[in-house]
Amino acid sequence: MKKSLLTICLAALAVQISFPTASTAKEAAPQPKIEATVHLDQVGDPIHPFVHGMFTELLSNMFENGIWAEMLSDRKFFYAVDNSETLTPTNSKRHQLRWRPIGPESSVTMDKEEPYVGKQSPLVSLAAGKNGIRQAGLWIENGRSYEGRVVLRSESGAKVSVSLVWGNGASDRQTVVFDDVTKNYAKYYFTFTAGADVQDAALEIVGEGNGSFEIGAVSMMPADNVEGYRADMIAILKEIGSPIFRWPGGNFLSGYEWRDGIGDMDQRPPRYDYAWNTVESNDMGTDEYMTWCKLIDCEPYLVVNTGFGDAYSAGQWVEYVNGSVDTPMGLLRAKNGHPAPYGVKYWGVGNEAYGEWQLGHMAAKHYVLKHNYFAEEMLLKDPSIKLIGSGASVPEQSSQYRNYHKPFQTQLPVEFLGYFDWTGQLLLNCLETTDYMSDHIYPNSSAYFDEASQSWIPYKFDFLQAIRLSTNRVKNSVETMKKYEELIPGLKEKPVPYWIDEWVPGRGAGFANTIGAAVALHEMYRSSRYVMMGGLTSFASLYASNDVKATISATGLLFKLFIERQGDLPLGLSGNVPQPALPGTQFVDIPMEPSGSPTYPLDIMATKDSKTGKVIVSVANPTEEAQSFALNFDGGKPAKNVTVYALAPSKMADANTVDNPDVIRVQTRTEKYSANITVPANSVILYEYTIQ
Ligand code: AHR
Repeated sequence: MKKSLLTICLAALAVQISFPTASTAKEAAPQPKIEATVHLDQVGDPIHPFVHGMFTELLSNMFENGIWAEMLSDRKFFYAVDNSETLTPTNSKRHQLRWRPIGPESSVTMDKEEPYVGKQSPLVSLAAGKNGIRQAGLWIENGRSYEGRVVLRSESGAKVSVSLVWGNGASDRQTVVFDDVTKNYAKYYFTFTAGADVQDAALEIVGEGNGSFEIGAVSMMPADNVEGYRADMIAILKEIGSPIFRWPGGNFLSGYEWRDGIGDMDQRPPRYDYAWNTVESNDMGTDEYMTWCKLIDCEPYLVVNTGFGDAYSAGQWVEYVNGSVDTPMGLLRAKNGHPAPYGVKYWGVGNEAYGEWQLGHMAAKHYVLKHNYFAEEMLLKDPSIKLIGSGASVPEQSSQYRNYHKPFQTQLPVEFLGYFDWTGQLLLNCLETTDYMSDHIYPNSSAYFDEASQSWIPYKFDFLQAIRLSTNRVKNSVETMKKYEELIPGLKEKPVPYWIDEWVPGRGAGFANTIGAAVALHEMYRSSRYVMMGGLTSFASLYASNDVKATISATGLLFKLFIERQGDLPLGLSGNVPQPALPGTQFVDIPMEPSGSPTYPLDIMATKDSKTGKVIVSVANPTEEAQSFALNFDGGKPAKNVTVYALAPSKMADANTVDNPDVIRVQTRTEKYSANITVPANSVILYEYTIQ
């Protein structure tokens, strides 16, 4: 944002209200009437569409039993098929079904000598009769088709039946029989049409005859899947239109071997994920991610593993993705069915190596060397790519001390450009190989930092304060970059915009989450000179879903609305009621001045659409009462009709669910222009003005 605009905003914020506790806030004197003025001649730097981006990770059920259409858990038998209660090693996935033996437990053993994939494959003995395996807990819908395949072998020519079972009666199942099972592993395909709506259907694989048979892998998806993805999820995400998705993590990334996720899906090994204590099937790998970006029409943003990974492998990945078929990895991609290079432009170099929770955590002085090794190998394979350094600004690095590094090894805030200033060290040592700098926003929502005692003081933030935690961190990051610009002369020639590629909206369920997201996006718009990209953690909050249905959530509607309707140029906005300051310490958890617009308790952001010239005033009301304000325009006069887009549920707790998908919708209407506006309780409203 240009200086003139900043000066006005800072001046308006100069008077701060002391705000020591949540309870005193409730007892505060009545607020003055809110007045806001849009300054049409104060135009900031363009807002990059990427601020509406998403963070995704091969984590829990985001993909597996999330947007990926596979219905079976552990389809490549990482775990033994038995009747045990618990899984060893443990599995943290929310949705994880089990394979169980049909018949005596001893009839199923795990073949570790010649597994089809991974470390073991179930071998079913038919000595005691018809035996096999089953997985129950599948949610199927009457009349819906399901398609799948099973990889089988049998030295003894066993006959193998695969059944979808939805009840106990003889007719409550469909069965496909394979009586041509060969000695070597081969794939056998099946299709079923469910005969009932049940949430506990089972897939059974049963053999008969002599000897035994082995199962290498098995898969089943609804037949309407779109290249492996759930059709409903793809439709929702495409409708929202988020322009960029970061993948494959996150903490997961630091243990990820990209080569596990290419080639024949059934032969990709399931691997234990030590970041989240679960198992990754590797079904959704690089080519599937690229398919997904194509399906929902978003920019890909890949991140390489600088945790347990190595620089050579990162370079190989760049070549796999972007190399021509004349390169070894480009040729491998072509053999995997994708001859044309993908041309992925944005590449992240690692994730959060500053944190002790991260596989491959290390000190900044070592990490800067590692970043440069990686950058060299990656740029060698494609010099046109843009690199995002894995940063932790002074506030992010400082706030990580809430859980880690006990006892503290340094005073907080950490010293700028000192040993603990992670982003500072990256900028000092890796400026040439860093185009953008990532920063993550996970504010401490249960304590503030007291500088004098150098300790975190437990604190209960009320909702109006909680939504400021993330906006304050955006502002913190900007203030930090300004300081880096003072300290590191090279940044003048080569500015390094932020990619806030993981952030969470304040706190709260239902529409509270949506308001938190709205004010955080407002703050990113205000920070357009410094913030280029945002990655909401996680995109799963854009929809509500169960195993068979999905619907857009209020936060999904908010993103869609902002993507479609917000202008691309931030405008200056002044007001008469500054946002109250939160307790805390500058450069740890609070900015020098409170974030948000000086229109407390409302957050108001004005933008202009450079194509149409329209001015959009976006108002978030985080309170559970209607709020009125006067809106003035400095430098122009609005035409008499105003288009209004309103997200205004009747209660803060409201949410769309799969069974009640229309609780919250965007209401569009035309109103007569008035300088006095009343916004409903718990709402986000966009007013679109034509300026005369
Ligand atoms: O909750 C998501 C996790 O938070 C990401 O994996 C990691 O990058 C961050 O610490």
